[in-house]
Amino acid sequence: MITTEGLTRTFRAKDRTVEAVRGIDLSVGEGELLAFLGPNGAGKSTTLRMLTTLLRPTAGRAIVANHDVSRDPDAVRRRIGYVGQGDGASHSQRVRDELVAQGRCYGLTAAASEQRADELLEALELTELARRKASTLSGGQRRRLDVALGIVHRPALLFLDEPSTGLDPQSRANLWHHILRLRRETGMTIFLTTHYLEEADTMAERVVVMDEGRIIADGTAPELKRALAARSAIEAPTLDDVFLDLTGRSLRDRFIAPPEAVAA
Ligand SMILES: Nc1ncnc2c1ncn2[C@@H]1O[C@H](COP(=O)(O)OP(=O)(O)OP(=O)(O)O)[C@@H](O)[C@H]1O
Ligand SMILES: [Mg+2]
Repeated sequence: MITTEGLTRTFRAKDRTVEAVRGIDLSVGEGELLAFLGPNGAGKSTTLRMLTTLLRPTAGRAIVANHDVSRDPDAVRRRIGYVGQGDGASHSQRVRDELVAQGRCYGLTAAASEQRADELLEALELTELARRKASTLSGGQRRRLDVALGIVHRPALLFLDEPSTGLDPQSRANLWHHILRLRRETGMTIFLTTHYLEEADTMAERVVVMDEGRIIADGTAPELKRALAARSAIEAPTLDDVFLDLTGRSLRDRFIAPPEAVAA
């Protein structure tokens, strides 16, 4: 479903170059549910944005849903869904109208997008909120709407960038209930990032850890835990232990003061 070779992205800031993604090779099979982990600033969102054609790679290549993201971005976009970090919906419209508009964007007829909107409202427990302005939804409701918007066109591959961040435990559990059910019903491949490691531990069958633009671990959660138990004194490590062992305990997105700020 996804293959990358040397996928790289650098950003040129005013006074320095940020190597956000440093040549990653990754292969994701059909139907996998993969959790993509890493500290703040590791390069997760940048990777997702390249895989979803929102950002051009600086070097390397990525084949997503059988198409090259650089050569054939339109074909990739038609086959994937993307729910970005923060939120995707513009929220000025009513919930149902937003879904209908998204369907129209993907080329559905008016009747088909209305039907699909109603299906998704039902599937994501949003029917009672159909006429509400999206801007008035709670965090959990909004995130469910974001997921609905991401799958209007029935993509075979769904990217979720921190879908559950900021939600209370009930809303997180509810969102996961929906994600897992959609996956069971559609066989969709799901590629997600999260900072809630117990989510990765219990929901994902594969965990990939990124740090400083590189992939530093790739395996099932039990494999990664066993490997840590074998190389450390920790007896029954959690995925949090694995993560901290791999990525260290220092803050990654610490502010590096520019020279003038230091001088002043
Ligand atoms: N448009 C940009 N211009 C300059 N630097 C950027 C840009 N986008 C991202 N970066 C930098 O690239 C690095 C990777 O950022 P990215 O957003 O991919 O991290 P992340 O793993 O998603 O982090 P988080 O967990 O905080 O969401 C960071 O150092 C970030 O500041
Ligand atoms: Mg991010």
